[in-house]
Amino acid sequence: MRTPKVFIARDRIQDAVCRLAEEIRRDYRDTAPLLLSTLKGSFMFLADLVRVLDLPVEIAFVRLSSYGSGTVSSGQIEVVQALREDISGREVLVIEDIIDSGRTAGFLLPYLIARAPVSVRVCTLLDKPQRRQVHVTIDYRGFTIPDVFVVGYGLDWNEQYRHLPDICVLEP
Ligand code: IMP
Ligand code: MG
Repeated sequence: MRTPKVFIARDRIQDAVCRLAEEIRRDYRDTAPLLLSTLKGSFMFLADLVRVLDLPVEIAFVRLSSYGSGTVSSGQIEVVQALREDISGREVLVIEDIIDSGRTAGFLLPYLIARAPVSVRVCTLLDKPQRRQVHVTIDYRGFTIPDVFVVGYGLDWNEQYRHLPDICVLEP
């Protein structure tokens, strides 16, 4: 195990979650959106967000995989667990942990749009724009971060560190 060093502390994460919830609540005031969480990384963010959102949301999951293991994207997106819910006629809000190259979101958005939702918006806790390969329109953004590999608060390195309550970087 490498030593995790706090990069974004839990209280700053909660402040961002509350701010995002306010923005989302304002935009979806009279609707019951479907929150679509991309597994596994966004599970903790989703859990915190829905508890402060105060909207009658429904929740769905999809699991995509782009990183085999380690920190370098394979570039190939694989649907590990497909969407089972019917999203036609729904307002879909994608809940992402991090958008890095943009390949995952770039794959997911057409996959969703093909299923005839009314709208699809994207909420990501973290945005790492320096490594973007595929343009993604981000509607709600928690933090913009530099090109560092982060773990914790749902994010992993080789399936480790997801449980950490802060977003951390790994000390060598
Ligand atoms: P993208 O397809 O390159 O945008 O990457 C999206 C996925 O890569 C995320 O959902 C994460 O699973 C993973 N990822 C990208 N950057 C990081 C990081 O810094 N830490 C942990 N996982 C990351
Ligand atoms: Mg991951």
